[in-house]
Amino acid sequence: MEDAEALGVLMLEAYRGTIDDGGETLDDARGEVVKTLTGGYGAFDFEASEVIEREGVVVAGTIVTHYEGLPMIAFSLTLPAWRRLGLARGGLLRAMERLTLAGHARVQLAVTRGNTAAERLYESLGFTDASIAAHG
Ligand SMILES: CC(C)(COP(=O)(O)OP(=O)(O)OC[C@H]1O[C@@H](n2cnc3c(N)ncnc32)[C@H](O)[C@@H]1OP(=O)(O)O)[C@@H](O)C(=O)NCCC(=O)NCCS
Repeated sequence: MEDAEALGVLMLEAYRGTIDDGGETLDDARGEVVKTLTGGYGAFDFEASEVIEREGVVVAGTIVTHYEGLPMIAFSLTLPAWRRLGLARGGLLRAMERLTLAGHARVQLAVTRGNTAAERLYESLGFTDASIAAHG
């Protein structure tokens, strides 16, 4: 994806200050993007994934891979200045629509407990906690 560099910046800025911020550098974020696009989290799905640009800046992204036989939302990212505008929700809904059209009825994701924004977002889209369901 030609947006790999922009995705690295997006990833760094999106996670900064969140519960998932491990003090990563731009190089770390670039490495994570390359890992994602080259199959490190399962095959990257270019067709289902998308980025949203505003005035030439990548402000949000929804990155889909296929992990252990099921589509996976590997990353949903929105720049801090562009949050609560529905960009992540829209990206996820379109990604899931494309997956449905491609014949996939289910999609998985992982979220850090305490990442309230992501938990609320995913709950609002109908995701349920498989780990809780599986362990009662
Ligand atoms: C999670 C994230 C992608 C949400 O992006 P966003 O574009 O602001 O999300 P949306 O505007 O589409 O929000 C949709 C819904 O999610 C929920 N939500 C989003 N941010 C929230 C917050 N800070 N607190 C509570 N609920 C929140 C709300 O239900 C919201 O709907 P509403 O605005 O009508 O109330 C963004 O906060 C982010 O990039 N976080 C860091 C990266 C990350 O943790 N990604 C998820 C794990 S991969």
